[in-house]
Amino acid sequence: MTQIAETQIRNITGTPIAPILADRWSPRGFDASHEISRDDLLSIVEAARWAPSAGNTQPWAFIAARRGTPEFNTIAGSLAGFNSAWAGRASALIVFATIPARGQKMARWNEYDLGQAAASATVQAEYLGLRVHQMGGFDANVIREGLELSDDVNPLTVMAIGAYDDSDSVPAEIAQRDLADRRRLPLEQVVLVSF
Ligand SMILES: Cc1cc2nc3c(=O)[nH]c(=O)nc-3n(C[C@H](O)[C@H](O)[C@H](O)COP(=O)(O)O)c2cc1C
Repeated sequence: MTQIAETQIRNITGTPIAPILADRWSPRGFDASHEISRDDLLSIVEAARWAPSAGNTQPWAFIAARRGTPEFNTIAGSLAGFNSAWAGRASALIVFATIPARGQKMARWNEYDLGQAAASATVQAEYLGLRVHQMGGFDANVIREGLELSDDVNPLTVMAIGAYDDSDSVPAEIAQRDLADRRRLPLEQVVLVSF
């Protein structure tokens, strides 16, 4: 499997956390010449498949496509606004969709479960030395029609996966966004009862 070195620590965490989490971030500057192997992409989807879900309902489906394929172009063509400027440089795109019929008994948690699958896929991609950038900005109907998906498939997010590129070959307006400060709410605002 591919292991790509990129060592800059992006997150100054208040307390040490696992390096794979401390190092994760969502770039827009992807290396448009990097190719992901089928095995690596498969392992990312497999990680999603093994995520926990309420009652093990697994109310999800994934559509993974490598750059250069018609499916990739369809997904890229659904992206909205600035997403369409950068995500086409990624090595792969994965659509994360809920299948409500599958999760009927645990409907309240369908989207929560899908998010866990996306988190697992993210960790697997990071483990491979790749970077992930998730997107909510896309037109689900373009994907549904372009890939001839049935009505019970609800695309919720698109995940771009690839190798980070901070070279001059990345257009400046994309590269600039990757230099922005990364912030989080202070711990006191998200931990409601101290321990
Ligand atoms: C559900 C979801 C939807 C998102 N949608 C977009 C998007 O449409 N475009 C974009 O550039 N980033 C998008 N993001 C990325 C977030 O903006 C990013 O994760 C957040 O700013 C934190 O940055 P970090 O991932 O580098 O820690 C999305 C992230 C998630 C989880």
